[in-house]
Amino acid sequence: MTSYKELGLVNTKDMFAKAIKGGYAIPAYNFNNMEQLQAIIQACVETKSPVILQVSAGARKYANKNLLKNMARGAVEYAHELGYDIPVVLHLDHGSSFELCKDCIESGFSSVMIDGSALPYDENVALTKQVCDFAHSQKDYVTVEGELGVLAGVEDDVVAESSHYTKPEEVQDFVSKTGVDSLAISIGTSHGRCKFTPEQCTRNADGVLIPPPLAFDVLEEIEKKLPGFPIVLHGSSSVPVEYVKIIEQYGGKIPDSVGIPEDQLRKAAKSAVCKINIDSDGRLAMTAAVRKVLAENPGEFDPRKYLGPARDELKKMYMHKNIEVLGSAGKA
Ligand code: G3H
Ligand code: 13P
Ligand code: ZN
Repeated sequence: MTSYKELGLVNTKDMFAKAIKGGYAIPAYNFNNMEQLQAIIQACVETKSPVILQVSAGARKYANKNLLKNMARGAVEYAHELGYDIPVVLHLDHGSSFELCKDCIESGFSSVMIDGSALPYDENVALTKQVCDFAHSQKDYVTVEGELGVLAGVEDDVVAESSHYTKPEEVQDFVSKTGVDSLAISIGTSHGRCKFTPEQCTRNADGVLIPPPLAFDVLEEIEKKLPGFPIVLHGSSSVPVEYVKIIEQYGGKIPDSVGIPEDQLRKAAKSAVCKINIDSDGRLAMTAAVRKVLAENPGEFDPRKYLGPARDELKKMYMHKNIEVLGSAGKA
């Protein structure tokens, strides 16, 4: 049993309270390996931004839980060594069961998500409450994120099917019955690099897909029902056109890629949305850099020679997000 405080981590409580008051969002960046973690910490130290290090069940399986725990401890020490102690949260992304959340809490996570959004409402409430009761009764309070509403996939018509959106009339009941510390909602974002079908988009003069806007009216309704309560947006990668182009230029095939425009995320970050999840953009930045280096240097076989540039590209991208999109720069 390891408490997150032993690792130098914090939970999301203070972070979210300050973010809502200050009109910005905390970056929640997924990581699976050392280069991603280095880039996140370098970018967040340089921009003086708080950060949520996000680990999916898949990442945990990929990286090993003991290694992950010590990577998080190392991230805190690395920030210190770089000259600025930023607040760091270690968060389980999309926890699917009580047992997984419990295991993460006991191995040093300071925050967990229990994702019961695919369950019937009452089962989601019961599972989320079970995780909250356990997390909140730890010696060091562990924060819990729940989810209401289903994030549409590319197969869903998110424009017409508003039934996927979070129902504002359910949020007060969910929060009071479960005791969650933050709530992930569905207002039109989705996971991955294809957030909308081409049919749901228009095209600009260059043929680039322009997505429909997020459902800010639903977000406003939710804010009215839960004043000052921390709201989370998943599926918030912007899928930068420049990375898509580089990947395709150097042999990749990722058609119909489209993300959430940065101005919409900036607008969301100024509201009660205080955590914005970004994973796919990191994958795109890394893949673009690796493909380019290997294509231009066919004789290269030292992983540092392509993972190094990938790390630099990631760092640049995270700094841009903190400064221009989330507004978290200078808030640590
Ligand atoms: O929301 C999901 C994240 O992008 C994590 O994806 O399960 O492939 O690690 P993953
Ligand atoms: P993206 O696929 O848009 O990066 O979303 C990541 C996410 O929500 C992780 O939980
Ligand atoms: Zn997610």
